[in-house]
Amino acid sequence: MAELNFSGVTKSFGGAPALDDITAGIRAGEFVALLGPSGCGKTTLLRLTAGFDRPDAGSITLGGAVMADPARFVPPEEREIGIVFQSYALWPHKTVAGNVAYPLEVRRRPRAERDRRVAEALNLTGLTAFADRMPAQLSGGQRQRVALARCLVFEPRAVLLDEPLANLDLALRASMQDVFRMFHRRTGATMVYVTHDQGEALALADRVAVMESGRIRQFAPPELLYREPSNCFVAGFVGEGAVIAARPMGQAGQGRLRMQVLGQEVTARTETPTPNYVSLRPENITLSDSAPLRARVSGCTYLGGRFRLALEAEGETLSAFSTQRAQVGETLGLSLREPWAFHDPEGETLMARALADA
Ligand SMILES: Nc1ncnc2c1ncn2[C@@H]1O[C@H](COP(=O)(O)OP(=O)(O)O)[C@@H](O)[C@H]1O
Ligand SMILES: [Mg+2]
Repeated sequence: MAELNFSGVTKSFGGAPALDDITAGIRAGEFVALLGPSGCGKTTLLRLTAGFDRPDAGSITLGGAVMADPARFVPPEEREIGIVFQSYALWPHKTVAGNVAYPLEVRRRPRAERDRRVAEALNLTGLTAFADRMPAQLSGGQRQRVALARCLVFEPRAVLLDEPLANLDLALRASMQDVFRMFHRRTGATMVYVTHDQGEALALADRVAVMESGRIRQFAPPELLYREPSNCFVAGFVGEGAVIAARPMGQAGQGRLRMQVLGQEVTARTETPTPNYVSLRPENITLSDSAPLRARVSGCTYLGGRFRLALEAEGETLSAFSTQRAQVGETLGLSLREPWAFHDPEGETLMARALADA
C-alpha cells in the first residue's frame, strides 16, 4: 500500500474541462470514495491515476514517486495498481482460478507462489468452492468477487474501483459492500472507490471527496460531510435536508452565531464569521406546538419506528422526523436547533438573483 497524491491535476477533452485543478492527498491504507453526479470527472481521475491517460497539467505521485507530471509518465503496467470496473472484465475462457492467477502469470511468478497466492485470494473473497467454474457460470456478485480476487492477488500498491456495484441489484450491493469492507480490513490496501451513490460512499469510506464539475468541493469523513458541509453543493448533495439562505445577527459564544433563518433567530454552529447559508437536517428540526415558526405538512412517510415529514415553511421545503403520523395539510410548529452555517461565495450571486426576481 502507498499514499496517493494529486497536485493541480487538470484535464480537458476538446476544450471542455473534465478535471479542474485537483489537489488532494490519500493516505497509505486509506479507503476514500469519490462521490459526485454523472459527468463530474470521477472516472477521468481514476483513469489518470491508473495511467490510461495523461493529465494536461499537474502531477500524480504514488508512494512518493512521480507517476505523471509534465516531464514524466509511468505506463499503467509499471504502476502496480489494481483496478475493478463495473463490467467485470474477466477472461471468459479462463476458470475462476485462471482469471485470478493471470496477473501473476504476467509477472512471471514461480508456480508454487502463484498457487499459494491464488488460494489465499480465493479464500479471502469466499470463492474457494468456485475455483474451477467459468465466469459464465457465476452470478454478478460472484464475478465481481473474482475481479476483486484478481486485483488482490498481486498485492497492488493501490486499488481503484469504478462503480463496481452499479450492475448489481440492491440486496447484492449491500452484501458486496461487506465484501469490500472486509477486503480493505484484511489487506490494508489504499482504496479509491468511485460512486454516484452517496449511501455507498458514506457507508464504506474513511473519507469522501465530493466532486462537482471537475472539482473537489469537500474532502472529509462521512460524519463531517453530513454535519458540517462547507458549501451549498455538498449540503444539498449529501444527506437529506434543506439549504437555506441565512444571515448572521451576532455572537453566541463557543463557535456559535445568532442567525436569522426562516424569519427566526437561531443559534447556529459555524467556523466562519460571515456565513450566508445553513444546512437544516431533519435532526435540526423539532416539532413543537407552541413554536412561532409554522409549517404545513406536505408529506408523511413511515420509515419503521418513525415518520419522515415533508414540510413547507416560509417558501422552503424541509424534512423532519416525527414519532407520530401527521396529516397532509395540517399545520405544525417548528423549532430549529443548532443548524450548521457556512459561507458559499457562489451562493451570494444566487441569492442576489433571487432577490432581484422577488
Ligand atoms: N475520452 C473522452 N473524450 C471526450 N470527453 C470525455 C472523455 N472522457 C470523459 N469525457 C468528459 O469528461 C467529463 C467527465 O467524465 P467522467 O470522468 O467520465 O465523469 P464521471 O465518471 O464522473 O461520470 C464528462 O463531461 C465527459 O463527457
Ligand atoms: Mg464514471
